Amino acid sequence: MARKIAFLNYKGGVGKTSLIVNLAACLAKAGQRVLLFDFDTQSNASIWLLRLERWNKINNTNVGAVYSIFEPGTAKLKDLVVKDVVEGKNGEKLLPGLDLVPTTFNLVELESEYEGDPRKPPYLLFNEQLRELESGYDFVLFDCPPNILHASQCGVFSANEIYVPANPDALSLIGFTLLVEKLHKFQQLSASFRVAQMGPPAAVQGIIFNSIKNGVDIEVPKMRMQLRMNQYKAQRRVAPTAKLFETQIRDATIVRRAVALGLPVVLVGQETSESDNVLNDYRRLTKEIIKHGEVL
Ligand SMILES: Nc1ncnc2c1ncn2[C@@H]1O[C@H](COP(=O)(O)OP(=O)(O)OP(=O)(O)O)[C@@H](O)[C@H]1O
Ligand SMILES: [Mg+2]
Repeated sequence: MARKIAFLNYKGGVGKTSLIVNLAACLAKAGQRVLLFDFDTQSNASIWLLRLERWNKINNTNVGAVYSIFEPGTAKLKDLVVKDVVEGKNGEKLLPGLDLVPTTFNLVELESEYEGDPRKPPYLLFNEQLRELESGYDFVLFDCPPNILHASQCGVFSANEIYVPANPDALSLIGFTLLVEKLHKFQQLSASFRVAQMGPPAAVQGIIFNSIKNGVDIEVPKMRMQLRMNQYKAQRRVAPTAKLFETQIRDATIVRRAVALGLPVVLVGQETSESDNVLNDYRRLTKEIIKHGEVL
């Protein structure tokens, strides 16, 4: 069965997209079959991996965007999968095994215009279609915006694990707190739609610190996060296996440059010791997430 993982935090800009895209790429590089969903209307992951020219074609017509399973509702999820999404300048496949279901800006309509069938919320419709294709994958990953509105709910409802990217600051701690509260509410609301074969609802499994600047001591914010985590464990609001991940990702300009190049860091090429180092962080994180699967 595929491991289904959402990256989520109520704080924006903490590194959800950069972590999930680089994790997806490292997993694919290690031979895993990966399907990444972009559930953020900002379309950052889609633009990054498709590059602007290919993404523009989808954005101009909305054909191939994830919203089309809801409105007009004629598309099927399995037809939206962009296989081996990362391509070179001449269309050569650079990273076999990493597939993407892209979004465009129209996904915002799921929050306002979309009416649908009140007995079938968007996350239920999405989940039914996901079940038809998830057996082809080892990992299904959901990149979510910093909220649990309708688009995010699709990822959260279908996922079995949640990881919380965080920066070592007070706002990330607030973001985590808010996330746990909202997650609890959503899970109560959606409980009646869960069926046995879906497995347990997604629980927070870990906090991943990102963008750590060289020489900056983050022990205090880590300790605060650990205390909050312990509190939530005692209240059973996060998984009993939840932890602060040992791997933390350093701050490195190559991460921002990789976006401009339309490549995950693993394909940028190791030009400097800085890029080597951050790539090793991503590889370590990938191993740690794979290993965490053993205790679930
Ligand atoms: N380790 C890093 N080193 C340097 N820059 C980073 C690192 N991780 C992320 N960034 C940069 O920080 C910015 C925010 O990252 P990202 O888009 O991944 O955050 P996000 O949580 O997905 O944001 P949003 O809430 O808007 O979806 C981006 O410009 C990204 O390139
Ligand atoms: Mg993002």
